Amino acid sequence: MNTQLLIDTARARVADDKGLLAMDESNPTCNKRFAKLGIPQTEEARRAYRELIVTTPGLGESISGAILYDETIRQQTKDGTSFLKVLGDAGIIPGIKVDTGAKDLAGHPGEKITEGLDGLRDRLKEYFQMGARFAKWRAVITIGDGIPSRSGLEANAHALARYAALCQEAGLVPVVEPEVLMDGDHTLERCLKVTEEALRNVFIQLNCQRVLLEGMILKPNMVLPGLDCPDQPTVDEAADATVQCLLRTVPAAVPGIAFLSGGQSAELASARLNAMNVRFKSRAPWALAFSFARAIQQPALEIWRGEEANVQAAQKALRHRARCNQAARRGEYNAAMERT
Ligand code: 13P
Repeated sequence: MNTQLLIDTARARVADDKGLLAMDESNPTCNKRFAKLGIPQTEEARRAYRELIVTTPGLGESISGAILYDETIRQQTKDGTSFLKVLGDAGIIPGIKVDTGAKDLAGHPGEKITEGLDGLRDRLKEYFQMGARFAKWRAVITIGDGIPSRSGLEANAHALARYAALCQEAGLVPVVEPEVLMDGDHTLERCLKVTEEALRNVFIQLNCQRVLLEGMILKPNMVLPGLDCPDQPTVDEAADATVQCLLRTVPAAVPGIAFLSGGQSAELASARLNAMNVRFKSRAPWALAFSFARAIQQPALEIWRGEEANVQAAQKALRHRARCNQAARRGEYNAAMERT
């Protein structure tokens, strides 16, 4: 195992107050988002949208790595330049989503297990040769009546750890993503409890599978109530609950925590990340960073709507969100930035 490469790659992803851009939506997820805006659900539309993202001027100033999907890592711009070259020229390191999706967990109604371990060693080898230096695997945890179960949490943590060990063997930094969903009406306290339990399981399994903590990135949810919960926290309350949870569960050896956005509005995701850094940056052992998909892309997608004429305006919106989140890492984000 190339320990130094893993440590350097992981550290560089969270250096200079930058973060990750998740643009690894599977084809069905991407098509679903396109359908909502009346954009054709074709390979060409997906390619054109990804071209818009990777060619955004100045993106590399705030983004250190982009998580791609298998289709995207093989695609090119209209003029025939591979996306990998465009990203490399912008100083953005490519990563790759390697799980094959969350399926129903047998014997566990309402719970999911993420698949993709079979053949993973060979796929990782190919992605490394193509230039990817990190990977992502997302476990999905739903809060509901009597769920998640202990066995559901264990199964997902075990799969994450097997994936992470294989990544490190192949020279790729694993981005370990156990996502507790925001769907439902559960309280902030319930999310805190479930996220704590999920992360405890994850780090037990990572240790069992001998994963080098210095050579990984954790991608958790923020600790938030369900979207349908009537009692929503202030920005500072959400920041406090999230960091409290992480301080209890994430070893200091982990270099970076890069949050998913999970369906929060783009502005709230930036504001909450900002509050965490204002309140905890000086004493948190790990970088508090971002690995957003929707909270960076959604405004740009809504401007683009599949129209060539909207590309520049969409790129401006994308760059703006990336900059807002970099400012949030510095604790310098404020609502006035949204009016510039
Ligand atoms: P969101 O930021 O849209 O939640 O996506 C992050 C991600 O990569 C989910 O796997």
